[in-house]
Amino acid sequence: WGVIVTIDGNAASGKSSVSGGVARALGIPYVSSGLLYRAATRLGLEAGLDLERAEALLAHLQKVPLRLEPLAGGNRVWTGERDLTGELHQSAVDAGVSVVASHPEIRAWVDAQLRALTPPFVAEGRDMGTNVFPHAQAKFYLTASPRVRAERRAAERPEDVDAIEAALKERDHRDRLQSAPAPGARVIDTGPLTLDEVIAEILRGVEE
Ligand code: ADP
Ligand code: CDP
Repeated sequence: WGVIVTIDGNAASGKSSVSGGVARALGIPYVSSGLLYRAATRLGLEAGLDLERAEALLAHLQKVPLRLEPLAGGNRVWTGERDLTGELHQSAVDAGVSVVASHPEIRAWVDAQLRALTPPFVAEGRDMGTNVFPHAQAKFYLTASPRVRAERRAAERPEDVDAIEAALKERDHRDRLQSAPAPGARVIDTGPLTLDEVIAEILRGVEE
């Protein structure tokens, strides 16, 4: 049963919470591609690198052993013995990650790590259904208005909702080239739904 389910969507649309719920229900892991872009960004910032310069960043990433641990309960990223996960949702990382993700060399570095994983799994991000796993058996794309997404994220971060909404819109704009529903993907507006309703709708779609 080498099934791959892809769940793409824009920033704070609910991808990781929904993917976790779907993965637990199916008894398989989920894979957060965004965490690898975030880890690349965090390591680049730490090393004092210019995030606009892909070559130096990639050279740095190839020196540090990075490992994505795709558990159903939540993904973790390690560099050797160090667990980076807790540092990947800082505002500085949010602000830099779309620049890092715009470099084709960095995208290839992330894609290679994802394609090396053994199915079954749920993969979530921006381009899982379009680019990385075009042969996935079931594809979904989550959306919600910027306000709804900002309110959800404001419940998890210290910043105020207007600042978060502005930052989300900026990131949506920068991510627009790699963030679109895959052909055949079921698009779900999560705005009027609860988390459990979104998970249930996806599970129904997977069974069809
Ligand atoms: P993403 O991975 O797309 O950034 P997250 O899953 O990290 O999104 O964040 C979404 C947040 O919104 C979580 O705290 C989640 O519990 C909450 N949430 C509330 N309602 C919903 C819903 N209907 N669908 C998805 N997430 C929801
Ligand atoms: O959770 P949130 O949607 O805020 O972010 P994420 O999924 O962790 O992704 C962080 C960033 O990584 C996005 O804003 C994109 O710039 C990039 N990304 C990407 O380009 N392609 C992916 N498949 C996943 C993430």
